Amino acid sequence: MLILGIETSCDETAASVVKNGRIILSNTIASSAEMHVKTGGIIPEQAARQQIKSVISVIEESLKISGLTPTNVDSIAVTTGPGLIGSLLVGVETAKTLASLWEKPIIPINHLVAHVYANWLNKKAPDFPLVALVVSGGHTDVVYMKGHGQLELMGTTRDDAAGECFDKCARILGLPYPGGPSISREANKYLVGQKGQSLRIFPRPMIGENNFDFSFSGLKTAVFREAQSIKDLSRKTPELAANIQEAIVDVLVKKAIGAARKYKVKSLLLGGGVSANSRLRENLLNTLKERGLGVEVFIPEAKLCTDNAAVIATCAFYNNHVVPWQEISANPELTIEEGF
Ligand code: KG4
Ligand code: ZN
Repeated sequence: MLILGIETSCDETAASVVKNGRIILSNTIASSAEMHVKTGGIIPEQAARQQIKSVISVIEESLKISGLTPTNVDSIAVTTGPGLIGSLLVGVETAKTLASLWEKPIIPINHLVAHVYANWLNKKAPDFPLVALVVSGGHTDVVYMKGHGQLELMGTTRDDAAGECFDKCARILGLPYPGGPSISREANKYLVGQKGQSLRIFPRPMIGENNFDFSFSGLKTAVFREAQSIKDLSRKTPELAANIQEAIVDVLVKKAIGAARKYKVKSLLLGGGVSANSRLRENLLNTLKERGLGVEVFIPEAKLCTDNAAVIATCAFYNNHVVPWQEISANPELTIEEGF
């Protein structure tokens, strides 16, 4: 089964061909992120315009790399939401046009669920039941899955998402967009050569509460106040970055492990852009080792954590709900609970 995935929910234009949900034949991405570095964040209309410019050539390139022609493709999978409406429309309408033209089935895909499916592109596939923590630019969701297509939301953020917190804090510190990688880079400068330093300047919102919800806007406010009180901010930036990263990571790890423990799952999965964070990966693995919890951790390779189309094609393989192209539309507000 060869599925062509198309992803255009934000500032990446991506196409990929995945065989049987596990083998990536091509994974092509054009990003307008560099353009957004200049503006310090995404300007939705500009992102959509870039999507229009890139989408056909990215799909062509992806087919070329996989050595396929449209005839060989079995179906087309496309992200229908959530995301920026202008960006989503480009992928959705392109996929519908191709499905009609090539006479192929089309599978609408929820971008957030697809982030979970990055873990089926690992060497070993996760076992059910599982808990997944999806941490992206706009979402922080803890989900429980009994099997493919059976997903329950256990917790979510009450305000800002973890990625959004990284991005906003980076802005406060004058670091470039996207904020996650920038904060991580600065943090590493501070952490190198230091051992056992306390990284407790900032609060860990909701860490002690007996639920799987999050709140990151208070942390952002604390960072803002701290930054305002410092005269030579650039000198202190690495230290502040390390503290911001540690506060976010501590909360994510505590809640993810709490959920895995409560639901007695076999596997604990990470997904979404923030799961590319090396401190998050390291802290999660170390904490689980210390606690001796018998749960297997799955973390996608970094380039499959951030937005790409391979995860869209993989998600479609395991959730093969074909819908007539006439009934497919972009839904910027789609939630992870609304499923596949
Ligand atoms: O999943 P993603 O690529 O796009 C969305 O669906 O939103 O996630 C983007 C988010 C951004 O907030 C970005 O700052 C964050 O993921 N991110 C990171 C890292 N790489 C990307 N956050 C922390 N550390 C990273 N290494
Ligand atoms: Zn994403």
